[in-house]
Amino acid sequence: MSGLYDRIQAAVKAVRAKTDFSAPTGIILGTGLGAIAKEIDIETSIPYEEIPGFAKPTIFAHEGNLLFGKLSGRPVIAMQGRFHLYEGFTPDQVAFPVRVIRALGADTLIVSNAAGGLRRFFQPAALMIIDDHINMMGINPLIGPNDERLGPRFPDMSEPYDRALVALAEKIALEEGIDAHKGVYVSVTGPNLETAAEYRMFINMGADAVGMSTVPEVIVAKHAGMRVFGVSVITDMCVPDCLKPADIKDIIKYANQAEPKLTRLISKLVASI
Ligand code: HPA
Repeated sequence: MSGLYDRIQAAVKAVRAKTDFSAPTGIILGTGLGAIAKEIDIETSIPYEEIPGFAKPTIFAHEGNLLFGKLSGRPVIAMQGRFHLYEGFTPDQVAFPVRVIRALGADTLIVSNAAGGLRRFFQPAALMIIDDHINMMGINPLIGPNDERLGPRFPDMSEPYDRALVALAEKIALEEGIDAHKGVYVSVTGPNLETAAEYRMFINMGADAVGMSTVPEVIVAKHAGMRVFGVSVITDMCVPDCLKPADIKDIIKYANQAEPKLTRLISKLVASI
């Protein structure tokens, strides 16, 4: 990780050559949050290729733009397209944009993802507000030399997801009639979906949903002193005793189905922060 601080500064310089837009909130538009981009009144959009240090999105990573604009009238910086470990990116590459968003002035990070539901009472297309996580990726983006200018060597993880934001999101969901659960997200590298035995293990560990993203970005955000809000869209049911083959078409279908309510939840949350 040597030179990380300088790489962040180089990225910030490239962004600042194009826009002086700053925002207190960064958003990672994961699967199911693509529609939020349409709700953002975009002032500037910078392709990842034009920001030094940003990895090149693979075909699978859909769009790759850093958006600067207003959501619900509030300034936000949004990642349209994120990087996953299963695409071959390193933990450093996956989390680097969070460092840049932080260095551009944001102190809050909102993340979304698609995830498998481990609880029988979940329904596909339901939302789960993340109130804690378990890192089962076998990696950590903070491994390596620590630069104290970026954060502490041993960052605290007693509250990875900001309790006040979780409570606020629950209140909004209730008011808006959005079916939002709350639970623990366990992260894996993928790209294969899990075996029934693995799902059983995750349930026994105390996890409520499983997915292939989010945790590296959240670890780095916490290291950098940000407060975090995360939400999963439940796209398939992972109940080990009646496991059916997962169909990626169904996963995308349910993610899209959840998009309007997720957009509503995030827009209202950003408006109330
Ligand atoms: N497992 C892991 N990641 C996922 C799943 C799943 O079942 N569904 C969507 N992302």
